[in-house]
Amino acid sequence: MHRRRHYIYPDLDTLAAAFVCELSRFLSETASLKRTVHVALSGGTTPLEVFRQLARATRPGEWNHVYLYWGDERCVPAGDPESNYGSARKYFLKPLKISAKQIHPIRGGRDPAREASRYSRLLTDRLPVEDGFPVFDWIWLGLGEDGHTASIFPGQIELWKSDQPCVVTQHPVTGQRRISITGGVVNAARRVAFLVAGKSKSRVVNEIVMKEGRYMDYPAFYAAPVSGNVEWFLDMDATSWL
Ligand code: 6PG
Repeated sequence: MHRRRHYIYPDLDTLAAAFVCELSRFLSETASLKRTVHVALSGGTTPLEVFRQLARATRPGEWNHVYLYWGDERCVPAGDPESNYGSARKYFLKPLKISAKQIHPIRGGRDPAREASRYSRLLTDRLPVEDGFPVFDWIWLGLGEDGHTASIFPGQIELWKSDQPCVVTQHPVTGQRRISITGGVVNAARRVAFLVAGKSKSRVVNEIVMKEGRYMDYPAFYAAPVSGNVEWFLDMDATSWL
């Protein structure tokens, strides 16, 4: 039985600072245990403030035991402003000079179907596997105003339930093709964190937390890792309906 823990902060800056603090604890704990860890980053705009702050607050050496992946990607080349990898590279990977061998982006510019199967293979080759799904130490996720997470959108629950680690999806409004991890990967993770900020998210946060309205249509509602370890980092605006 998973128990969502909610942490609420006055604004995105304080949310990001608290998350970076938690991340520093995770980095030092896992380094002291001499553990190699695998972390999947979220996309979109909310993590950008986290990336900026961690580039200032952490040192390159603290990341030597960390391998980085993405929970989803837009099907655009890395140089495109829409690229999740491109944003992380700009605000965090380059400033911290994280070595390329530790960074495993989804190649958004490649053929989506082939890239989804390549990335599925990469994850099952590199990470421990349980019940056919790769096990991340930590997955960071965002939440869309429509209740999507990673790049699985409402009305795509069959993709969330896929037996594949990664699938090709499509943004229901823009039509943009995406590559996304599936629910099996999210729910196999040792730890999942949602980073959610802004008033535009408050209605869907309320529906998911209170199990009201269309919550059953929201892929984010089904993020329930068997580890029981799921945390929601929210700002006041995102909880204004609660
Ligand atoms: C993406 C994401 C997506 C994102 C939400 C929230 O590639 O868009 O991974 O799941 O986290 O859409 O996006 P914002 O943080 O920009 O509101």
